[in-house]
This record gives sequence, structure tokens and C-alpha cells, in this order.
Amino acid sequence: MRLLFFLSIFHYLNSCSSLSTQPVCKDFESSALLQLKQSLEIDVSASFDPFAYPTISSWNSGERNDCCSWDGVLCDRGTGYVIGLDLSSSQLYGSFNSSSSLFHLVYLQKLNLADNDFNYSQIPPSIRYLSNLTYLNLSMSAFSGQIPPEIFELSNLVSLDLSFNPLKLQNPGLKSVAENFTSLKLLHLRRVNLSSPVPHILANLPSLKSLDLSSCGLYGDIPISLKNLTQLTQFLVHNNQLTGQIPPWLGNLTQLTDIDLSDNKFHGSIPQSICRLPNLETVSLRGKYLSGRVELDSLLNKKKLTILLLSGFHLSFPINSTFNTSTPKLKILALNACNLTEFPIFLHSQQELKILSLANNKIQGQIPNWLFNMGKQTLFSLDLSHNFLTNFESFNHSPPILPWDNLLDLDLSSNKLQGSLPIPPPSIAQYNITNNKLTGEISPLFCNLSSIAVLDLSHNNLGGMLPKCLSNLSDLVVLNLQSNNFRGILPGIYMEQSRLKAIDVSYNQLEGQVPRSLSNCTMLEILLLGNNQLSDIFPSWLGKLPRLRVLSLQSNGFHSAIGKPESSLDFPKLQIIDVSFNNFIGKLPYEHFQSWTSMKVANLTFDEDNAYMVADTSTPSPYSIFVNDFSYTLEMTNKGIKTLYQKIQDHLVAIDLSSNKFDGEISEVIGNLKGLHLLNVSNNMLTGPIPSSLENLMELESLDLSQNRLSGEIPPQLLHLTFLEFFNASNNHLMGPIPQGQQFSTFGNDSYLGNTGLCGMPLTKKCKISKTLTQPPPNSKQGEGSNFPSKSDWVVIMMEYGSGLINGVVIGNNLTIKKLERFLKNFGRKQ
Ligand SMILES: *[C@@H]1O[C@H](CO)[C@@H](O)[C@H](O)[C@H]1NC(C)=O
Ligand SMILES: *[C@@H]1O[C@H](CO)[C@@H](O)[C@H](O)[C@H]1NC(C)=O
Ligand SMILES: *[C@@H]1O[C@H](CO)[C@@H](O)[C@H](O)[C@H]1NC(C)=O
Ligand SMILES: *[C@@H]1O[C@H](CO)[C@@H](O)[C@H](O)[C@H]1NC(C)=O
Ligand SMILES: *[C@@H]1O[C@H](CO)[C@@H](O)[C@H](O)[C@H]1NC(C)=O
Ligand SMILES: *[C@@H]1O[C@H](CO)[C@@H](O)[C@H](O)[C@H]1NC(C)=O
Ligand SMILES: *[C@@H]1O[C@H](CO)[C@@H](O)[C@H](O)[C@H]1NC(C)=O
Ligand SMILES: *[C@@H]1O[C@H](CO)[C@@H](O)[C@H](O)[C@H]1NC(C)=O
Ligand SMILES: *[C@@H]1O[C@H](CO)[C@@H](O)[C@H](O)[C@H]1NC(C)=O
Ligand SMILES: *[C@@H]1O[C@H](CO)[C@@H](O)[C@H](O)[C@H]1NC(C)=O
Ligand SMILES: *[C@@H]1O[C@H](CO)[C@@H](O)[C@H](O)[C@H]1NC(C)=O
Ligand SMILES: *[C@@H]1O[C@H](CO)[C@@H](O)[C@H](O)[C@H]1NC(C)=O
Repeated sequence: MRLLFFLSIFHYLNSCSSLSTQPVCKDFESSALLQLKQSLEIDVSASFDPFAYPTISSWNSGERNDCCSWDGVLCDRGTGYVIGLDLSSSQLYGSFNSSSSLFHLVYLQKLNLADNDFNYSQIPPSIRYLSNLTYLNLSMSAFSGQIPPEIFELSNLVSLDLSFNPLKLQNPGLKSVAENFTSLKLLHLRRVNLSSPVPHILANLPSLKSLDLSSCGLYGDIPISLKNLTQLTQFLVHNNQLTGQIPPWLGNLTQLTDIDLSDNKFHGSIPQSICRLPNLETVSLRGKYLSGRVELDSLLNKKKLTILLLSGFHLSFPINSTFNTSTPKLKILALNACNLTEFPIFLHSQQELKILSLANNKIQGQIPNWLFNMGKQTLFSLDLSHNFLTNFESFNHSPPILPWDNLLDLDLSSNKLQGSLPIPPPSIAQYNITNNKLTGEISPLFCNLSSIAVLDLSHNNLGGMLPKCLSNLSDLVVLNLQSNNFRGILPGIYMEQSRLKAIDVSYNQLEGQVPRSLSNCTMLEILLLGNNQLSDIFPSWLGKLPRLRVLSLQSNGFHSAIGKPESSLDFPKLQIIDVSFNNFIGKLPYEHFQSWTSMKVANLTFDEDNAYMVADTSTPSPYSIFVNDFSYTLEMTNKGIKTLYQKIQDHLVAIDLSSNKFDGEISEVIGNLKGLHLLNVSNNMLTGPIPSSLENLMELESLDLSQNRLSGEIPPQLLHLTFLEFFNASNNHLMGPIPQGQQFSTFGNDSYLGNTGLCGMPLTKKCKISKTLTQPPPNSKQGEGSNFPSKSDWVVIMMEYGSGLINGVVIGNNLTIKKLERFLKNFGRKQ
């Protein structure tokens, strides 16, 4: 999932630097400020702004203790009272409560604490004492919880910004804002949880100029009363659940410069009047249910237009391709799913583009030469995925070397690109060219891509040996080479401190052993080596990887007995293992079963926000962060059918040991793996009875025991498996009555074929003894009842290609990983 935030967070309150002349500040105020200083720590990672500095460091009680001269403090020239405090981006860390001395500064008119880290404090009710506040900015400063009702006593507020905090404003909610802050000019509550309709009474704010209610959980129609907000310049309601048509009266709000209605549930077409608004700078109108015609020519004659995001519209282009100086210099342009068949000619004039997305169109043929001049220095994200592009015009010689000097993110996936693999510039962080028709080898020039975090070359016809240096790319998080023709060995030098989370080299012709140096990849979560010609014993040393969740070795030449784990703590996070179609022999790996602790819990706790397994591939860079998740994919046999999981549900637990040469009995210890959803041991040489402990696998949905030498009866305890949807015991030596009822009434003949001794429904052979069990044995634990909803909704989740959202976050400069993590924790992962 990819997101775009365009944050304009670093507004400065420039009025707050002091030119102290006359009055000296009051003692009670300077001591309140010093107390405030005492109560907070300086932590460089507390602010995102690259120009942040610890404003309060210079405050002191020494000789020059006139607080009016302190950095960030503004006093009234007449009275000497502190009327302004700007501690934005001051690297402050610490908690706030109602006893904070901040609330002694009762003459404050402007308070800016934006971009600090207040440790998820609540906004203290004492905020009410600052009753002369006109300007309050607490954005991006890690305040949390319900916004206290006392804030509504600040009836002089003109500007209120609480954006980017995990705050709630419910009961009282937005309505109270409109009732009590009637002088508001700016109201920014982006990402504050409102969960309400837009109240009519918002029209009560006749002076409102800037309204940002993006990602607030708003729903319902936009009330028509808002057409009274004639001063509005910014109307930003991105990412809510708003419904109805786009209100045509928006076209009458002639002051509007920025409109963002994207990612709501609006339907219908865009009123042309909106496109004709004279002062537009930002226009974002993407939505699943929007359609119709948009007059691009009327938008493109607005000189100040810098951001234009449209999807799913039929675009009418300027008739003539000559562009004069009045063509706007766009910074961000996305025209997605608009059935474009060629590159829009007006791109010729776009020298300052930073982000361009033309994904999900029908652009055919070559990528023309002239495109390389577009944003040569500025472009950092280019998404041309899901078109019909065939090659790069300019490169007669291969491989094509792409020219954009500052490109971070390049997505050329799902086209028809032929020839050699294009080489991105060294600045690249995310490169996705999956699903094309590229041939040839990976150029050694790839070794220069020292910042690359995501490399997805899967589903092409690339071949040759993998360059050794690939494993030196120390920032790599995702390496996907699936479904190519790579030969030779998997290169074996993986550095310590590798960031790799996902490696998929399945469906190639790789040989040799699993490189031992993979044990350096301590972040690794998914390792897919299937469908190659690897020849090795079971790599039990991978058990040391503390985060490994998915391991697939299927269809290779792995051999010998699996043996014991090196320690009982091995594979602590393993959820899915597939070793099918190899040459393993000996007993099933019972000792390993004991150590696979993640499989033993029936309800693995998982993060609700991340119901699928994803690698967070977000990368900070000098210019931006790209927030991006890579959904793990996996091909596995489920319910007897080879299934491609485009996404893997976060708590899926599966073991596939099928098609090897395992022998011996199935031990009762298998019943300990209570989290199992899929168990496949078919096509081995297993003997003995089906263990009745299988009844403990309450989550089991698919059980394949077919093609072994199992004997005895099918234990009636299996009737307890109320989620079982697939059961195959065919081609064994089973005998006796088939359990009747529950899920077993849904299995057909095929489940039992090739067992001469079985009898009872659905087979035609009747049992001699009429004792066919229809109830589970009474001494067993109580079943859950068969009216449970089927949980099989994870079976195959088809990929949503979406409408080609732009990937990335543009958020100032120079972010450290630590700051990125805080950012993602607060804002990034929710959608
Ligand atoms: C931050 O919050 C945590 C949890 O409430 C608390 O334990 C810790 O002391 C706080 N840190 C500071 C510096 O206030
Ligand atoms: C408020 O925070 C200060 C430290 O900043 C602490 O000493 C005081 O006990 C806290 N008061 C309450 C009521 O939590
Ligand atoms: C608030 O401002 C008014 C005038 O605008 C002034 O009379 C009053 O004293 C101020 N109150 C405080 C607490 O500063
Ligand atoms: C907010 O406004 C309402 C209606 O105007 C009023 O009843 C209420 O007292 C105000 N709340 C505060 C805290 O001032
Ligand atoms: C909007 O303005 C019109 C006229 O200017 C007025 O009659 C109407 O009451 C206003 N609506 C609201 C909800 O304020
Ligand atoms: C918008 O303005 C036009 C012209 O001033 C007027 O005819 C139209 O009724 C207005 N639309 C709305 C919805 O107020
Ligand atoms: C694009 O073409 C498809 C198929 O021809 C059509 O269904 C769709 O409505 C078109 N979309 C636009 C935005 O014109
Ligand atoms: C477009 O430009 C061509 C030549 O560049 C000219 O012949 C034609 O008349 C122009 N069409 C319009 C509608 O301006
Ligand atoms: C892990 O990486 C270091 C160098 O970073 C290397 O010396 C070591 O041999 C690697 N470990 C394995 C098992 O290859
Ligand atoms: C499993 O679910 C039960 C009840 O819902 C709960 O009590 C238990 O803590 C959960 N166990 C785990 C490991 O999540
Ligand atoms: C590459 O793009 C495809 C869609 O075209 C997507 O499914 C895949 O997850 C992307 N790969 C990475 C590593 O993000
Ligand atoms: C990023 O920060 C480092 C020091 O922390 C500084 O040297 C570098 O110039 C900064 N880069 C940008 C683009 O601000």
C-alpha cells in the first residue's frame, strides 16, 4: 500500500523572535519558563524538521535573565508580559500535565509547540487558563487522547492546528469547535479522530480560510451550508468516508487555492466550475467512484497550479501542443487510470516535476527521449506501471541507463518492456520492474546502487548468474527475483547488519547450497527458495534467525533426514514452512515441531492494522520518506490446489511436508501445533494410525494425509475440527467407519478413495456394524458447533492494483531512521 502525504508542517511563527527594547519580563513569567525548561529534555530525534534546534537551551537565570530576550519568547512592548511562545521544532521531549508552569503564562496570545515529542501526553485541561490565546499549534508533537472540553473556553482562537497527533475529538466534537471558535481562520485537524459527519454548523465560521480535516474519519455528505464559507482558500478532506456528489457550489468559492477531496466515497463527475476556479494551486480529485470528463486545458492555464492528482477521468487535453509561459510548473502530477494512450505532450514543459505518476493507463510503445529532460534534476518518483510500454527510445545500446539524477522511486512494473534491464541512477531507493519481458543479465552496474532498499525484478526473462555484489547492497530490504531464469549459485556474502526482510528467488534455476551467510540476515522474515535446483540438507541453521516467519524450500533437491533443531529455541517466529517436493527421508521432524512455538498458539496475536504479512520498506532520504509496504506473496498447496497467495494473512500457520520420502508414524506431538490452518503430509511413506491428537488443531482448515501407508480407523475425534474444509485420506490402508456428521458430511468420495477397508457415507460400501459415529466422543472437549462462519476468507485475496496511488511521503528533509520510525508509529501505518 502506498500513500502520499503532502505535509506543510513547517510553518514558522515568524513574529516570535524578539527585538527586546524596553520592558523587562516579569519574574513569575521567567521562572515559569525556566520551570518549563526544567521539565523537558532535549532529544534530537524529537523533531522532524532538519533545521530544528534546542531553542530553550539558551534560556538561563543568570545575569541576563530578561526572558523577553530569550529565544522563542515574545513580550508585549507595553506591559512586558509574555504574549508569544514559539517552541516549534525545538527537539523537546517529555510529558505535560496540568501542573506545568506553561499555564502560568496567562497573557499568551500565540503558542506554538509543533514538531516536538510530548510522549503521548494528554492535552492538559489547564489549557483553559491561556484564555487570550488566538493562535495554538500543537501539531505533530505526540499529544494523545481525547481533546479536553476546556479547550473550548479559548474563545479568541483564530488559528488552531492539532494535526498529526493521535488525538480524538468526540463528545464534544467538531460541532463545539464551530460553536465556540467563531473567529477561526485556520482549522487543521488532520489525522485527529473525529468519526462524525461534517456538522452544518461549520458554516458558523465565516472567517474560515483554511480547513484541513483529512484522515479524520468523517462520513456522510458535505452539508450545503458550507457554501457560506466564502473566504475558504484551502479545503482539504482527503481520506475520509464522505459520500454524495462533489458539491457544485465549491466552484463558487472563488478564493480556493487548494482542494483535496481524494480517497472518499464521492460519486459522479467533477463540476466543471471547480476546474475553472481562478486561483487553484493544488487539485486532488481521486476516488473510486468518480468519473466523467475533466477539462485539463482549463486546469493547465492556471499559472500557480503545482499539484494535480486525478484518476479515473476522461481528460480533454489542450488542443494544441504549444505551451507558452503561462503553463504552470507542476511539482506533482498524477493522471491515473485515465485511458491515456500516449505521454501527454504538455509534459515537455515540465522541468520541475518531483513526482510523476501515469500508472494504470494505456500508454503504448516507446518511452520517448524527450521524457528524460523532464525533471532531470528534480524528479524523485516516477510511476509508469500498468501500461503497455515496450522499450526506451533513446537506447540503441543496452542496457539503458536512466538519467534522472535524484530519482528515488521508479516503478515500471506490469508493462511489456523488452531488452536489457534498465539501470536506475545511484540515488534509487525503490526499483520495481516486475512483470515485463526483460532479457539478459543483471549488469554489474547494479552494484553501484548503494541506497537501494527495494529491488523487484520478478516475472521477467532475465538470466545468467547473479552478480556476487548483489548481496553487498547493504540497504536492501526486499529482494525479489522470482520467476526468471537465473542460473548458478545464490551468492553467499551477506553482511552483518543486513536489513533484508524478504528474499524471493523462487522459480529460477539456481543450484548449489543455501549460502550459510544468510544467517547474517537477522531481520529476515520471509525466505522463498522454491522451484530451483538447490541441493542441500535441511538448513536448520536458519533457526537462529529471530524473525523468520515463512520458509519455502519446495521443489528443490533438498535431501537426507531433517534431524533435530540445534536448539529448542530455534525458529521462534516460524509460521509457514513448505518443504514439499524434495527428497527428505526419515521421520517427520518432531523435534522441530516442539520448537516451532509460533505454531503452538491457536490465536496468534496480530496487529489489527496489518492483517497481512508485509515488509515495511519505507525509506528515508534527504528529500522525503517513501512510505511503502511490500505484501508478501507465496505459492502453496491449499486444500489440494496450488494457490497463489497475493497476500498472506498475518496469522496463517501452515506446514507442507508433502511429496518427500518421510516414513514412520505420525506422532501425537503434532497435536501441539494448535495454530495450524493447513497441514499437508501427503505422498510420503508414513505408516501407523492417524493420531487422534489432531483433534486439538481447532483452527485446521485443510488436512491432507493422502498417498501414504496409514492404517487403522479415521479417529472420530476429528469431528471436533469445525473449521475443516478439506480432508483427504485417500490412497492409504485405512479401514473402518468414516466419521459422520459435522464437517465430514461435506467431504466427497475423493477424500477416501484407495482405502479398501473404509465404509460408510459417502462411500457406497456400508459398514457391517451399524455403529457409525455421528457425534464426537463425549469425553472430548466440547466442539465449537458447526454454525461458525467459515474462516476461509483468507483463501485467495486478489491483488488490488488500486488506482495507482503515488507512493511516497514528502516531509521536509533529512530524516533519520529513528525519526522515520516515530513518524510511522504515529501516522504511517494506519491506512
Ligand atoms: C514517557 O511516558 C512513559 C509512559 O507514560 C513514562 O514512563 C516516561 O517516564 C515518560 N517519559 C518522560 C520523559 O516523561
Ligand atoms: C506533573 O508533572 C511533573 C513533572 O513534570 C510531576 O512532578 C508532577 O507530579 C505531575 N503532576 C501530576 C498531577 O501528575
Ligand atoms: C486578555 O486580553 C484582554 C484584552 O484583549 C485583557 O483585558 C485581559 O487582561 C487579558 N487577559 C489575560 C489573562 O491576559
Ligand atoms: C461553547 O459554546 C456553547 C454554545 O455557544 C456554550 O453553551 C458553551 O458554554 C461553550 N463552551 C465553552 C467551554 O465555552
Ligand atoms: C448562509 O448565508 C445566507 C446568506 O448569506 C444565510 O441566509 C444563511 O442563513 C447562511 N447559512 C448558514 C448555515 O449560516
Ligand atoms: C454559484 O454562482 C453562480 C453565479 O454567481 C450562481 O448562478 C449559482 O447559483 C451559484 N451556485 C450555488 C450553488 O450557489
Ligand atoms: C477506459 O476504457 C475502459 C474500457 O474501454 C472504459 O470502461 C473506461 O470507462 C474508460 N475510462 C475512462 C476514464 O475513460
Ligand atoms: C493547432 O496548431 C496548428 C499548427 O501548429 C494549426 O494549424 C491549428 O490551426 C491549431 N489549431 C487550433 C485549434 O488552434
Ligand atoms: C557475516 O558477515 C560478516 C561480515 O559482515 C562476515 O565476516 C561473516 O563471515 C558473515 N557470516 C557468515 C556466516 O557468512
Ligand atoms: C486466545 O484467545 C483467548 C480468548 O479469546 C485469550 O484469553 C487468550 O489470551 C488468547 N491467547 C493468545 C496467545 O492470544
Ligand atoms: C511491485 O509492483 C507490483 C505491482 O505492479 C506489486 O505487486 C509489488 O508488490 C511491487 N513490489 C514491491 C517490492 O513493492
Ligand atoms: C542532513 O544532516 C546532516 C547532519 O545531520 C548534514 O550534514 C546534511 O547536510 C543534512 N542534509 C540535508 C539535505 O539537510
